[in-house]
Amino acid sequence: METKFPAGFLWGGAIAANQAEGAWREGGKGPATVDMIPHGKDRLAVKLGQQKRFSWRDDEFYPSHEAIDFYHRYKEDIALMAEMGFTVFRTSIAWSRLYPQGDELTPNEAGIAFYRELFSECKKYHIEPLVTLCHFDMPMHLVKEYGAWRSRKTIDFFTRYARTCFEAFDGLVKYWLTFNEINILLHSPFSGAGLVFEEHEDPQQVKYQAAHHELIASALATKIAHEINPQNQVGCMLAGGNFYPYSCKPEDVWAALEKDRENLFFIDVQARGAYPAWTRRMFREQGIAIETLPGDDDILKHTVDFVSFSYYASRCASAEMNNGNTSAANVVKSLKNPWVEASEWGWGIDPLGLRITMNMMYDRYQKPLFLVENGLGAKDEPDASGNIHDDYRISYLREHIRALAEAIDDGIPVIGYTSWGCIDLVSASTGEMSKRYGFIYVDRDDQGKGTLARRRKKSFWWYKKVIASNGADLD
Ligand code: BG6
Repeated sequence: METKFPAGFLWGGAIAANQAEGAWREGGKGPATVDMIPHGKDRLAVKLGQQKRFSWRDDEFYPSHEAIDFYHRYKEDIALMAEMGFTVFRTSIAWSRLYPQGDELTPNEAGIAFYRELFSECKKYHIEPLVTLCHFDMPMHLVKEYGAWRSRKTIDFFTRYARTCFEAFDGLVKYWLTFNEINILLHSPFSGAGLVFEEHEDPQQVKYQAAHHELIASALATKIAHEINPQNQVGCMLAGGNFYPYSCKPEDVWAALEKDRENLFFIDVQARGAYPAWTRRMFREQGIAIETLPGDDDILKHTVDFVSFSYYASRCASAEMNNGNTSAANVVKSLKNPWVEASEWGWGIDPLGLRITMNMMYDRYQKPLFLVENGLGAKDEPDASGNIHDDYRISYLREHIRALAEAIDDGIPVIGYTSWGCIDLVSASTGEMSKRYGFIYVDRDDQGKGTLARRRKKSFWWYKKVIASNGADLD
């Protein structure tokens, strides 16, 4: 059996604090944006920043409050990941565990202690932590007092928090990501960047101003990480998946190019160090005026070391697309592609799309890539003995790992692969538990009922074999 994966390739899985930890008011943690996002009919409006939710209500269920209780069970969970042979584990730090309000001058020591123990536990098994500083959560106080990323002040709060992390976890963590799926700010502005809109406002103006602040914050964090330890490797993170033109009609090709640019804008800045030329015209035509400070251009020149991305599905665009004829895979609106199958949630299953996306990104950025999310959200039905035969998940992952191997063979340097939701967790888009991604089953339902017990699925044993053979044995 020959493998196309290089020696030392990192294999593992990914989760995020906001979808796994729970313990939302323990250890001094402050309420975060995600803690205001309910399960049920209002969820989308809150995530989009159309419905203001500055506090929680007694008559609603908030999946993040307990999530899968990773906060208390991480030792058991990391042991299971080690059993699969993980060499990398991606998670995020909940900003409001370290800075409960966000604008304090000193961090909450209990929060630091928790993550130090978590990362040490990973190291015990020779698992490299890959840590996202901001994954769809931020202290709620920053939203209420400052308007979150609308305010330039948030850059200072974030860089203080980032510095604390780089110092406190120096020697434990080497791989860092600044913002998870930074382009999702455009598509899901409250969960992406804590933005809520007033009626008279132009959302595009608000979003791109906030984007500028995040990009400056990301560049500054990258600089600080390198100053604190030159060994630190910092990446940006894109919700990836190319747009295909719906037809070869030139207008459709142009529409697809524009849609790709909209998402890649962020990575263009983080990986190349400057706004792409086309933004000048786009801002002018859309009447967007971004406030900047002298020196911003220089700050942006601190580019990332590698480009990370998620890939679940490819997308499709036409000149005529509108809200009526689109569906949303990973909250990015897309036409349904008649050439690919879709998951139960309508996300197009397209392994070749992964190879296409990776080749496009490497051609564009010439930096190592890291595939930090990929997977199939599916319903699992335990049999009478409680076993889960998730062959559908195995087959999705097998085909995507094959495509990844092809991309490596195309000459692309790839640091590693962390499949999403290696342990079942709360879905970011729907808040469901029943949209499962894991190799490890968690006994909990969409209403928050269940024992939270963990159980290995069939895919657990399959992935263990994949890792042990460094990707050679995918059967
Ligand atoms: C990405 C996010 O958008 O996709 C994760 O970074 C998210 O937080 C994942 O969970 C899968 O999406 P969903 O909506 O199925 O949970």
